[in-house]
Amino acid sequence: MGLRSRMLAGFAAQLGRPTGLRGLFVGRMLNRANRGTITAAIDALAPQPGAVAADLGFGGGVGLGLLLVRVGPKGRVYGVDYSPTMVSQAARRFETDVAEGRLRLLEGSITALPLEDGSIQGAITINTIYFIADLGRAFSELARVLVRSGRVVVGIGDPPMMASMPTTPFGFTIRPVDEVVAVAKSAGLALQDHRRAGEGEHAAHLLVFAPLPDPLP
Ligand SMILES: C[S@@+](CC[C@H](N)C(=O)[O-])C[C@H]1O[C@@H](n2cnc3c(N)ncnc32)[C@H](O)[C@@H]1O
Repeated sequence: MGLRSRMLAGFAAQLGRPTGLRGLFVGRMLNRANRGTITAAIDALAPQPGAVAADLGFGGGVGLGLLLVRVGPKGRVYGVDYSPTMVSQAARRFETDVAEGRLRLLEGSITALPLEDGSIQGAITINTIYFIADLGRAFSELARVLVRSGRVVVGIGDPPMMASMPTTPFGFTIRPVDEVVAVAKSAGLALQDHRRAGEGEHAAHLLVFAPLPDPLP
């Protein structure tokens, strides 16, 4: 592997699981780059004051702070990420919220969420599913932890744009929007809304899902 490929592979690995000192810089970079998309995702989720919300794969943690503001002092936020570096960075940044019990940070995977069944009213997961091989398992877990009236917003970069990124060959799985929607449906989550965040034809996609109604007896 040439030097350029090695650098791209290293950066791609950091995006998929920010680690160590470089991971801390990547977390900050993600916060700057993705703040707009994450704000739009939380607008689409529209969590009510007092709600229990989650950011799954929170990276640099900008979504955790925005969710804490939206759910207010009576609400609660869970953050799950499988990078120990991101969890400890968020624990330092949100020390007070953690101490007050308004924020719970957990190391774990979206494919095996460390959350109780039916415990979350609203969740976001932004720029994460490229790193998940078993998407059906991830959506089953999202369906399991949501209350029946809950919603989850899945945010992804525009697939054709993502496919052309130099980091993509190094461990990203890019799926068309229709495929993501079909996998969610087979896991029991129906598409409620499809918004774009950002400008132009390559704006990010925000897919809002809700549990499918129970079949009639
Ligand atoms: C590209 S970053 C995106 C972070 C943030 N959501 C954003 O949009 O800025 C991907 C994050 O998801 C986490 N991640 C990737 N796969 C995951 C999984 N299966 N379970 C939990 N976290 C995961 C990574 O550790 C990383 O922090």
